Amino acid sequence: MPVREVLHMGDARLLRHAEEVRKFDSPELNELLKDMRDTMHSLDGVGLAAPQIGVNLRVVIFEVSSNPRYPDAETVPQTVLINPVLTPLSDAMEEGWEGCLSIPGMRGLVPRFTHLRYQGRDEYGALIDRTVSGFHARVVQHECDHLDGILYPMRVRDLKDFGFNEALFPGETVQDE
Ligand code: NI
Repeated sequence: MPVREVLHMGDARLLRHAEEVRKFDSPELNELLKDMRDTMHSLDGVGLAAPQIGVNLRVVIFEVSSNPRYPDAETVPQTVLINPVLTPLSDAMEEGWEGCLSIPGMRGLVPRFTHLRYQGRDEYGALIDRTVSGFHARVVQHECDHLDGILYPMRVRDLKDFGFNEALFPGETVQDE
């Protein structure tokens, strides 16, 4: 069953602290990643965390490919990030609109660190160590929050900046994350 059900906000399983992965390059991990990719692609998402499909492990995936409809949008390489550690590189934060596959049809304005180092492992256990900024940094923070039971509305400063896509952005097509 490659495409899995994505849990929606309100489900207590989204609020757990996820557990570290201890075994890499295993059939179980590879199957989980395949299901996560299939699920994310089926919903046109840019990222997905394992807890969103009910698997309580510190695994996230994300990718933002170039889209001819949005030639100016930043791209983010296809990434599998396991047991991540995030280190902000300054206090600077900026607000940006986010969506989430666990909160379909909605958007919120969320403050995130603008510059960030992230470390972790890929599916084979190889070290990942990147310094990123902007949208890439935002996506990583959003996905890794899922591993600590944090959904983006919990970070929205003013609930006036949280609402339904069609009301916030009439006539626009927006992507859930
Ligand atoms: Ni999300």
